[in-house]
Amino acid sequence: MPLKILALGGDGIGPEVVSSGLKVLEAVAGTISLKVDITEDLLHGAAWDAHGTFIRPETIRAAHGSDALLVGAVGGPKWDHIKIDGGPEEQDGLMKLRHELEVFASLRWARAYGPLLSRTPFRPEVARNADIMVVRELCGGAMFSPTRGIDGTGKSRRAYDLNEYTEAEIARFARIGFEVARRRHGKVLSVDKANVFMAGKLWREVVQEIGAREFPDVTLTHFFTDNAAYQLTCRPGDFDVILADNLFGDILSDQSAAISGSLGMLPSACLSHLSTGGRSEKPAIYEPVHGSAPDIAGTGSANPIGAILSVAMLLEYSAAEHESARKIEVAVESALKAGFATPDLGGTNTTQEMTDEVIQQVLRA
Ligand code: IPM
Ligand code: MG
Repeated sequence: MPLKILALGGDGIGPEVVSSGLKVLEAVAGTISLKVDITEDLLHGAAWDAHGTFIRPETIRAAHGSDALLVGAVGGPKWDHIKIDGGPEEQDGLMKLRHELEVFASLRWARAYGPLLSRTPFRPEVARNADIMVVRELCGGAMFSPTRGIDGTGKSRRAYDLNEYTEAEIARFARIGFEVARRRHGKVLSVDKANVFMAGKLWREVVQEIGAREFPDVTLTHFFTDNAAYQLTCRPGDFDVILADNLFGDILSDQSAAISGSLGMLPSACLSHLSTGGRSEKPAIYEPVHGSAPDIAGTGSANPIGAILSVAMLLEYSAAEHESARKIEVAVESALKAGFATPDLGGTNTTQEMTDEVIQQVLRA
């Protein structure tokens, strides 16, 4: 059976980097005779302009019927004012997809790259070899709460977004996080504000319980989120897997990108299930962590590596093609070592040049 991919470029630089990701995917697939069946469609602003909706029902149906989605980025000032009836997931095509596919665990991968150490704000000895997987809860908490709104009028308006987590939501998420740690270096840091929030207290209790009962081989530590942010800046090399709720994970994943030299380097895998063997039975979303960068859209200068490494994660988590995933990761390292760099990395290479170099490196491997 071919691997069914739904590619949604989205807005701004999204379509450009997705096109790079697909080229790399096709090149790698060719080397292992993996058949891929790619369908492209519009998401968020692009869908709004063409169809008057952030995501069409047929796109959602196609998402459910695919093995994996490769998404670029969504949003831009052009669509910010649009307000749709319903919850937060209705306001954003990508949030709607995350909600529909229930991809509640987002694996966001930040690594230090030797050739880019001088691009980071860290002394080389602080960031060297840092390799962090932020596992962010992606379908709950304040960011998805239906209990939200702005009430009242004038000076007495009141705004709220209820930060709530059920035990079941925390437990299913924690299990994926621990499992990911088992496949890495066996270390989990769970972050919360259990000193203040009730949701944080339950978070800590449930993560602790699952860890002790089901993953005694994984080392578990708990930090308050503010302290985690501080430690992440002081000693990024000491982290392995960070478990965080939707809001804290959004923040910490961007922060951890500093070790890579650019947010443009970070890939992610949004999962509802972690396959233990072959192809995953449930569709997952793969997306670079960066945004749509409307200011540089169409200039051919976007960094495609976040999208290309998202393809590596796709091969790893949806297709169980581990060797091919490694091949792409090594090809990216080789391209950087050869001096290829887009403007965000301090270079002058175009999206196309960077993509072509990675493909050359893949084919040479
Ligand atoms: C991200 C983004 C999104 C999020 C926005 C665009 C809704 O910041 O993927 O990190 O917060 O989930
Ligand atoms: Mg974010």
